[in-house]
Amino acid sequence: MLLLAFSCSTKSGRTDLATDTLIDTSYVDSASGGDPMAEMADSFGSSELPQQIDLPRLKSIRRDRSPERQPPIVGGETIPINLIPWQVLLEFDGDDICGGSIIADRWIITACHCVSSINDVNQLAIFAGLTNKRQDKLTAQKRQVVQIVRHDGYDRNNPNSAFDNDIALLKLDRALDFGEKVTPIRLATPADERAGITSPDKKVRVSGWGVTTENGTPSNPVRFVDIDVISNTIAASQYNRPLLVTPNMLAAGNPRGGQDACQGDSGGPLAANFNTNNPVLVGVVSYGEGCGRANYAGIYTRVSKYIEWIQQTTNIGIAGGSDRRTIARADQ
Ligand code: ARG
Repeated sequence: MLLLAFSCSTKSGRTDLATDTLIDTSYVDSASGGDPMAEMADSFGSSELPQQIDLPRLKSIRRDRSPERQPPIVGGETIPINLIPWQVLLEFDGDDICGGSIIADRWIITACHCVSSINDVNQLAIFAGLTNKRQDKLTAQKRQVVQIVRHDGYDRNNPNSAFDNDIALLKLDRALDFGEKVTPIRLATPADERAGITSPDKKVRVSGWGVTTENGTPSNPVRFVDIDVISNTIAASQYNRPLLVTPNMLAAGNPRGGQDACQGDSGGPLAANFNTNNPVLVGVVSYGEGCGRANYAGIYTRVSKYIEWIQQTTNIGIAGGSDRRTIARADQ
């Protein structure tokens, strides 16, 4: 069944990969105490796995009744889009499905799970310069997507890599008009990483229109929360399965819980240097164990690992002065 196919249980509940977070599975609460990876293998291995289930559908969010789960994006606040002008909203067939970030005038970066089951690219659009998605869609810049480039290492059916490489690129039908509400964000490079841009306790900003209450209502105004980078070592010990926290991932959160991304924020930006004139995209919202739980960091795709792939796919220069030598040195 659809919900079960999505759920990857862990000992304390489920770990949300991708869009499963958009469909509350907490009430399914399968097999606690079982082996999470075996369960994951089971669920991912099901030949009945429908191909459409990966598509986020905010309209189908159900409330989470799990008492241990914190309200999503706790501690978040609304923000005008000009303070996070790289943030975009993805719309599929009229549904607001995910976030994304502007990396060039015709390219958006997002999570692969947001778009992995979309066949009809014509139904996919993005909104830039949007603060309130109920009020501002007509004045925002809307673009159609003409091409989806999914990372071919993303394979949610493979229990050995289901959480890995959750990254995709969207090509737009025409260029965005850059301005104070619509601006690309520079991608973090391996050199930025060496210089400590994601060293633990560095503050990073995640944002999006994801759900904001335990009742699971997505936010109309875009929201943000500033959280700490958490080391992969700590995150790996929290999730307790190496495959859930690979070097291609980046963890961030508030160790006490209460501040996190949640359903609907996927694909959106995790930015460092967000209050400077040189903001840097370090992560893409990917998954988490619930939302805002203490001792479960949110997990992000680590952008610096994909610089070469992004450069080759889009042919854009990597902004921020990275030259070809930097790109050639990128480690993935
Ligand atoms: N996978 C979710 C989505 O599709 C985002 C999950 C992020 N979760 C978290 N706890 N950080 O919107």
